[in-house]
Order: sequence, then C-alpha cells, then structure tokens
Amino acid sequence: MFERSSTIIRDGGKLSFEYVPKKLVHREEQMRRLETLFRPLAEEGRPCSAFLAGSVGTGKTVTARRFCEDMRDHCASKGKAVESIHINCRIKNTEHSIIHHILRHYDQGHPDRGFSAADMLRALRLKIESSSRPLVVVLDEVDVLLKNSNRDIIYQLSRFNEDMRPPASVSLIMISQYSMADKIDEASASSFKRANTVKFDRYTRDELRDIIEARAEEALVSEAMSPDVMDLLADIAREFGDARLAIELIEKAAAIAEEGDAGRITADDARSANAMIYSNVSESKLIDLDMKRRLALLAIARAMKKDSAVSITAAERTYAVVCEEYDQAARKHTQFWTYVQDMEKMGLLETTVRNEAEGGRVTYISMQDIPPKELARKLESILDDPASSDECRY
Ligand SMILES: Nc1ncnc2c1ncn2[C@@H]1O[C@H](COP(=O)(O)OP(=O)(O)OP(=O)(O)O)[C@@H](O)[C@H]1O
Ligand SMILES: [Mg+2]
Repeated sequence: MFERSSTIIRDGGKLSFEYVPKKLVHREEQMRRLETLFRPLAEEGRPCSAFLAGSVGTGKTVTARRFCEDMRDHCASKGKAVESIHINCRIKNTEHSIIHHILRHYDQGHPDRGFSAADMLRALRLKIESSSRPLVVVLDEVDVLLKNSNRDIIYQLSRFNEDMRPPASVSLIMISQYSMADKIDEASASSFKRANTVKFDRYTRDELRDIIEARAEEALVSEAMSPDVMDLLADIAREFGDARLAIELIEKAAAIAEEGDAGRITADDARSANAMIYSNVSESKLIDLDMKRRLALLAIARAMKKDSAVSITAAERTYAVVCEEYDQAARKHTQFWTYVQDMEKMGLLETTVRNEAEGGRVTYISMQDIPPKELARKLESILDDPASSDECRY
C-alpha cells in the first residue's frame, strides 16, 4: 500500500486555498496601490486603511495576505515590527468574537467568556499601546459583518488611533465582493476613508493561463501538464474570470490523472475535472425545489449573467419572461420575494440591501457557490425533463 509514488502531484499543499504564493501574477497594480496607501504605516507607524473590492476568485484574500506578509518582512528588515491579523468575518461574525480573536493574538490565554466587548476593547488598547507596534487588521468578507449590523467594531477600532501614539496604531484592510462604501460611512464617521478602494477585476483568459502555469510549476511534477491542457483549463475558467475555479480545476485534473496510467494530465482529465466540479453543486437542492421556485431561480440566474449580483427588480423582469417561456403564470412581487427568502434559507442564494446613489434602498441577490450561467443550464435541463416538471417537493 502507498508504494506507488505520485507521478503527477509534486507538492499538493501548493494547490490548497490557504497557500499564498510568493509572487502573484497580474496583481502587481493592486500590490503597488496597497504599497502607496500603506507607506505612512511602513515609514512612520501611522494608521492607514484600504477596501479591496471585486468578485469571487479575483485574488482579494491572497493579495491581502501577500501584502501583509511582504510589509511585515520589509518593516522587519528596517528594524520596525508590524503585526497583522487576518479575520474572516463569515467565521468570526460578531463584534465579540472579532475583538476576542485580536486579543488572543497578544494574549493566547485570554478567556472568551466573562468579558464584555467594552472590557475586551480596553484590554486590547492597552496591549497595542504597550507593544508599541502598528497593527493591521484584515476584515475579510466584511459584508457579512456589516449585514449583521455589527458596525460598531469598525468605529471602535478607528477610535483607537485618536489618542494612541504612533508607531502604536490600528490600520484596517476590509475585503468584500460588494462595494460597501455607504455602509462603511454609516458605520463610522471614522478616519477609514472610502477613497482608498482597490479594485480587483475578473481575470482575463490570458491572465488565468499565467496563473495556471505558475501554479502547475509549483505544485506538479515537471511536464505533467502540457501547454495544451493549460490552454484548455484557461478556456474553461475564462467565463467566470475566477482564479479559484482555475486552481480547483488543476487540483481535480491532477487527482484524476494520478489514478490513470498516462503519467501526465490529459485533455480528458481536464474535462472530467470540469464536469466533477459542477456535477455536485447544489444538484440535490435544485431537485428539491418546486416548479415555481425553479422558475424564480432560473430568472435570477439569467438576470445575473456575469455580474456578481442583480437587483430584485431586474430579477423580477426576467422572471416574467421566464414564466411566459414555460407557460406559467408569474406570481406577484410579494410571492416572488417569499421564493427568494426560501431559497436564501436553503443556501442557494444570498440577499443584501444596498443604498443607491440616487437614494433609496434596493435588495440585491447574489450567489456564491455556482456560476449563474451553470446554474441556469442545470435548471433548464431539470425544467425540460418531463419527469420532473410539476411535482411539488418543496
Ligand atoms: N494573481 C494570482 N496569482 C496566483 N494565484 C492566485 C491569484 N489570484 C488568485 N489566486 C488563487 O486563486 C484562489 C482564489 O483567490 P482568493 O481566495 O484570493 O480570491 P477572493 O477574491 O478572495 O475570492 P472570494 O471573494 O470568493 O473570497 C486562491 O487559491 C489564490 O491563491
Ligand atoms: Mg476571499
């Protein structure tokens, strides 16, 4: 057992999502912008801030991690220590758990019960002051925090700087798939300015090709992936401009090839990897939906196209067209809204309320687990299957 040595994968860790490559291809501009924004911190310990915004898999998290590590190394080489903490707000989603997490960075044994948020903030402030080091807090997926009305934490952290003396200071990097300038403004009349947005566009096909090549070089046995297969994977991933999908494709294709005898990743391995990634996404959840909700979800997926989110009004417009196509009566707004809420509970989509530039608040629908186009394709094939047309399972 285990005597067969790996013929394809040289270092599997390099394909994990936690891995932070030494060099990020095609994110040089964002790294430079972060360098500009954080120069006052690196040179004088003064607090800085940035918002990283862009859709799924555009490298926001990995860029923030790379930047913090590089900045720490750079400052250390100049004899200045900088602390940084990366917090995923989807996991630590309350003010209490975030403050506790930061506090634990300074005091491993700090108990998580028996202290109010205010107590912990006081303790944290003392820790930062006595460390005499700048602290950078990265709030990843900060939209989850803001959505849950845990805004005070941003204000509280910014207030630390009012009477702390540099180099003791708190800087903030906030990351989100959605623009959150309004919410941040609401959250704090703070020094964290909205002008400091760093945008992450979707990767182009050629950029994805370079990311695939770089990662294959690090993770795979040399020549295990031919240039043709790299092209094919880039073509598959291009539609979504999502590097996470590209890396997942390498990982799956390599695992499939490892079981075969070719000693390299074939084009068919790449295609099978693609099929595998989508075959298990939400399929059972879709089967569980009734006809009315399937139509609503199809409309949302079509309306979303390649955008990361769609307004409920735009989704309803497409819904009317979809119902007509499938010869069904379109339900009224309140009913459509109920479908959306049901599907949010099932984890098929998410809703957020945004303030519009022209005033008013609008609900936006987004989905994270599956590209909308792929979801639409799946729903269409379920809806077109006569066996599944009108049973009501949900
Ligand atoms: N420019 C790049 N060079 C190398 N690898 C990259 C690059 N951009 C992204 N990746 C890799 O792609 C994957 C997804 O990137 P990351 O997690 O940073 O995306 P994200 O923008 O944070 O997405 P999400 O909004 O879903 O959290 C990670 O494995 C990351 O290492
Ligand atoms: Mg991320």
